[in-house]
Amino acid sequence: MAPSVVALPTACHDQLKGRTLIVGSTGFIGRFIAEASLNCGRPTYLLARSGSQYPSKAKTIKTLLDRGAIVLHGSINDQDFMEKLLKDYKIEVVISAVGGENILDQVTLIRAIIAVGTVKRFLPSEFGHDIDRADPVEPGLTMYKEKLEVRRLLKESGIPYTYICCNSVAAWPYHDNTHPSEVLPPLDRFQIYGNGTTKAYFVAGADIGKFTLKTIEDKRTINKSVHFRPSCNYLNINELASLWEKKIKRTLPRITISEHDLLSAAKENLIPQSIVASFTHDIFIKGCQINYAVEGPDNVEVSSLYPDIPFKTIDECFDDFVIKLIEHSPPLENAVKVVQNPGVDDGIATSNRLVDVRPITATYA
Ligand SMILES: NC(=O)c1ccc[n+]([C@@H]2O[C@H](COP(=O)([O-])OP(=O)(O)OC[C@H]3O[C@@H](n4cnc5c(N)ncnc54)[C@H](OP(=O)(O)O)[C@@H]3O)[C@@H](O)[C@H]2O)c1
Repeated sequence: MAPSVVALPTACHDQLKGRTLIVGSTGFIGRFIAEASLNCGRPTYLLARSGSQYPSKAKTIKTLLDRGAIVLHGSINDQDFMEKLLKDYKIEVVISAVGGENILDQVTLIRAIIAVGTVKRFLPSEFGHDIDRADPVEPGLTMYKEKLEVRRLLKESGIPYTYICCNSVAAWPYHDNTHPSEVLPPLDRFQIYGNGTTKAYFVAGADIGKFTLKTIEDKRTINKSVHFRPSCNYLNINELASLWEKKIKRTLPRITISEHDLLSAAKENLIPQSIVASFTHDIFIKGCQINYAVEGPDNVEVSSLYPDIPFKTIDECFDDFVIKLIEHSPPLENAVKVVQNPGVDDGIATSNRLVDVRPITATYA
């Protein structure tokens, strides 16, 4: 289907300030961004590719459309189309949340933004670690090299930018191929990476959206990396496991996934599992989120920018998982019994998957 730009009544055009285009709103991170943009009352334009294979994506678009988003169909690969869109809709801010397979598609988007010359801020698809500092093994490394290439082009272009380094999404960090916040924490056994003592930062998806949206109007974040380090959500895997045990009121066996196991899984080069394994290794063995200080003129920590705005705690996120567990399953007691059955062989019981679980296409952080 040819890309199309839907005409908007002129009056509507003129009323809209701070027009924000979000690329990738049907994706895992992009949806949080789109919801946050609508929550702020910003004029929110979503670029969606046609013909998605997942019914859940069409549902996401419909929900966002019903909330007032304007949906435009096309791809960032098409420079002429993107130039026309940016001009016709007077887009001021572009936030990209394309997935790991499409990081380099942003090169064409950057060219379109340069050609139009009116975009005041661009947030490329980062939403993970500080890729200048993190150092995952392959195949995760390739994705970081692509993100670095986008950073390099962006710096050269002179477009004002912000990099969102939001660390891990608040949930149990599975090293399998579903997005972490779409599956409940384990109900049968925990996979503990290494000795389970390396800490990481966990941020609720809605908070990734909320704070990302705060940064786009903030002069203090122009041409900066914004690091999300909420002190309330600074935990290691052992602590995460204990917290979940408290919530489900039972203890679970702990299986050690060693550094060697993770490196072997990465080496198999199966996409996306091996990419997830390489990031899991970088976070929970090497400590890539915590082995540097946020300092220097190009870095800023989000809690110091907005000290009065609270983060949702991991404790609250786990409470939400308990509610979902009760809503989507037989009573909690039964769900726990179900996962104790033999036959659950991958460490992730079927009954702790929520509705609408989508596989990770290529990336994790
Ligand atoms: N911190 C973390 O824990 C974490 C977790 C996950 C991801 N991330 C990061 O967040 C970013 C987004 O990843 P994700 O997993 O959310 O991605 P995703 O779920 O795979 O979604 C990607 C989105 O981008 C859209 N897209 C891809 N190529 C496009 C193009 N050429 N034109 C227009 N739209 C395009 C897709 O549209 P279709 O619907 O048409 O496919 C989809 O909406 C990545 O940088 C990733 O590394 C971080």
